[in-house]
Amino acid sequence: MSSRLPLRIPQSVEEIDTAWLTQAIRSSGLVEAANVVGFRAGSPGTGVGFQGQTIRISLDWDIEEPDAPDAVLVKFPTDNVGNRGLAEAEGAYDREFDFYERLSDDFPVRVPRLIHAVRDPGLSRAARRRREGFVDALPVPVVKFIGRHARKLVRPSKRRYALVMEYIPDARVTTAIELPPAEDLSAILGTLAEMHAHFWGDSRLADDSVFEWSMVSQMPNVMHGVYRAWRDDVVDREPGVFTDDLMRHADWVGAHIVDLVAHLNQPFSIRHGDCRTDNMLFTDAGLVMIDFGVTGSGRPAGDVAYLLSESIPPGFEARATFLRFCREYHDRLVAAGVVDHPLDEFMNDCDIVLAVQAYRVILMEAAFEADYDGESLAHLWGPRVRSLLADELPRF
Ligand SMILES: Nc1ncnc2c1ncn2[C@@H]1O[C@H](COP(=O)(O)OP(=O)(O)OP(=O)(O)O)[C@@H](O)[C@H]1O
Ligand SMILES: [Mg+2]
Repeated sequence: MSSRLPLRIPQSVEEIDTAWLTQAIRSSGLVEAANVVGFRAGSPGTGVGFQGQTIRISLDWDIEEPDAPDAVLVKFPTDNVGNRGLAEAEGAYDREFDFYERLSDDFPVRVPRLIHAVRDPGLSRAARRRREGFVDALPVPVVKFIGRHARKLVRPSKRRYALVMEYIPDARVTTAIELPPAEDLSAILGTLAEMHAHFWGDSRLADDSVFEWSMVSQMPNVMHGVYRAWRDDVVDREPGVFTDDLMRHADWVGAHIVDLVAHLNQPFSIRHGDCRTDNMLFTDAGLVMIDFGVTGSGRPAGDVAYLLSESIPPGFEARATFLRFCREYHDRLVAAGVVDHPLDEFMNDCDIVLAVQAYRVILMEAAFEADYDGESLAHLWGPRVRSLLADELPRF
């Protein structure tokens, strides 16, 4: 059973105080004797996050110390109960903690320095696996019922999580609403190639006790229960987004869901998992990756096609641009030393991931609440995914 630690772990900005901040930052060794005597909270702000509250805390110190930060970034779980339950069912917060605690110190790309991480314990790995296995094997009508009422039935835990990390000032991000310039995409793809090559075939990713998270879903049948339960409603609601060609790819994913998830989960390398441009901070000193909330292992196309699925202007040229960027990434991967992932296999994986993205747009519309300046993610993302899809379904 999970239990709460006998510690004070704030879960909102109202619960933070100077004593907690002082202790959290001292635990990193950045300061020794200085105390936080005042702070101000501000939001970095990219709309309503799916799964987290992300808060910048500016700090006042009583005495000067050379490494005392002017600000830190604090992450708590979302207070949106439905989103939190769904996120936790996929290991959302644990993934980010495991990443920062276990893998971030040996990472080829700059990530914010971890300052303090504290979370209540969850189920043991074995117990969680048993529970996932049991729920995922329930009969189809039961899984569909769970899918229909997922936001109510998939309850969040009572665990508390608090992550304090370095705040990266003066960064430039492209939000989900905007489309990034091509140079940004090239820079991100080059960085992904470096990251994937660094972890290529790394035994830590295949070792459950270090990093047990894979891509797409921990429970594909349950995920597909959500799809089955909502598919027709979502198409009726937004026929302009969920067109026949998009649905042909999405339904194809549904028809092979368990095998496709197993395929994409093969732990070739680490995957950032949420490769959106708003999780890539551009600074004068280079790119900084953030938001490891859905990080796992898998095939690299899972990051590459995911990124491109939301960042190429829709239209006639889109598919050709997509293919060009995929090849560019593959060249970089090979140049970084990965010679056992053939281009043809990678390109087909990219098409599989695009189809999965089409499927995920339906899930987003069905089950998540998020708002991007009044736009739904389905509206922003659906047309972008659609104009990248191949005429033919991927090989599988
Ligand atoms: N360490 C950091 N330094 C500077 N800005 C940051 C940092 N971490 C996050 N941000 C800003 O906060 C935003 C949200 O952070 P993050 O993506 O980690 O949160 P999240 O809750 O997982 O969000 P979402 O679910 O919407 O992706 C980022 O897009 C970025 O603009
Ligand atoms: Mg994010």
